[in-house]
Amino acid sequence: MSAPLLQVESLTKHFPLSPGILSKNISVVRAVEDVSFSVSAGETLCIVGESGCGKSTIARLLMRLAEPTAGRVLIDGTDIAGLKRNALRAWRRRMQMVFQDPYSSLNPRLNAGQIITEPVENFERLSHKQRKALAAELLRKVGMLPQVMDRFPSELSGGQRQRLGIARALALQPSLIIADEAVSALDVSVQAQILNLLMDLQQEMGIAYLFISHDLGVVEHIAHRVAVMYLGRIVELASSEALFAEAVHPYTEALIAAAPLPDPTRVRASVTLEGEVPSPVKPPSGCAFHPRCPLALERCRVEVPPLVPMGDGRVVACHVRAPARVLGSAPGNANPSLTAGMPGSLHPIANVQNTTNICTQHRAD
Ligand SMILES: Nc1ncnc2c1ncn2[C@@H]1O[C@H](COP(=O)(O)OP(=O)(O)OP(=O)(O)O)[C@@H](O)[C@H]1O
Ligand code: SF4
Ligand SMILES: [Mg+2]
Repeated sequence: MSAPLLQVESLTKHFPLSPGILSKNISVVRAVEDVSFSVSAGETLCIVGESGCGKSTIARLLMRLAEPTAGRVLIDGTDIAGLKRNALRAWRRRMQMVFQDPYSSLNPRLNAGQIITEPVENFERLSHKQRKALAAELLRKVGMLPQVMDRFPSELSGGQRQRLGIARALALQPSLIIADEAVSALDVSVQAQILNLLMDLQQEMGIAYLFISHDLGVVEHIAHRVAVMYLGRIVELASSEALFAEAVHPYTEALIAAAPLPDPTRVRASVTLEGEVPSPVKPPSGCAFHPRCPLALERCRVEVPPLVPMGDGRVVACHVRAPARVLGSAPGNANPSLTAGMPGSLHPIANVQNTTNICTQHRAD
């Protein structure tokens, strides 16, 4: 079997914090903790989770904008940490990024044509004619007219700027685009246009996406698979279809319950996500979700739950919903503990006063 396009193995990033004047101890922000996943060619893997759970840090580590504390990132089976100059340049062509705020990521002094052809000109010289032809082609790909190439970012709408950001990412014909909250700043109708554009481009060019979003409606629309993160760790990873049909991890369940339903005929569990996200400087012991989890047991305070395969490509880290004994069970077997957690059947230790709707919290951003 060929290696996946992108393989992330036990990726960890701790940011040291400067100690106070009187303190000798250096604390660290545990932004990403032992994260593993893969992305295949032409696939969309979405990463979701509350603010501060480490999504953008993963993107930065993949782009080598930050160095990992531990773990590896492999492209087509090659560890990017070991790449020398030429190999590094070749790899950079293959991975491109689209940012949340197209305005601040576009050079205001360059016109649209210059912006989208700049990545190619970092690698090869283009004649005036070649540059114009490339700009027109890229603009066409993202649904814009060639005349737009003479306009500056300030003369474009939010949706047009994001199309420009996508055109720039496409210029080097990447295998993988990392989109960090790429549609979060856009109106709902423009969001839908950009998502459809990304999916059309995937069909046409076979691009893979690592799509970071806090919006589960967007994620359900675009994802093939979804990784749910909590305080730096993946707590559940499953196909989009399976995840939205039935969440297994209590955190995923609460996230989905808190998101607005696009289809009013659909019914889902009413699970409330209680409490604030703890600090990644001093995460809770054991399962970091335990102070907010309605199913938490004493064991959850002390043991970090491992990610356990559930037999359908899904992995879940939860002592109650995915106990480690499931390991080795035949694919497709239902997890007998899936129904665990009914009121009274466990000994909940959660004791939280305030209730936070994570989606409301994000949408106010
Ligand atoms: N350079 C840094 N130095 C110290 N801490 C950092 C640094 N970059 C990120 N962090 C911290 O790491 C944690 C994860 O941050 P990150 O930006 O990856 O979260 P996120 O999931 O992308 O959040 P959001 O949804 O708000 O964008 C946060 O607690 C953040 O404050
Ligand atoms: S039941 Fe325990 S392990 Fe599972 S999510 Fe809740 S606190 Fe974590
Ligand atoms: Mg972020």
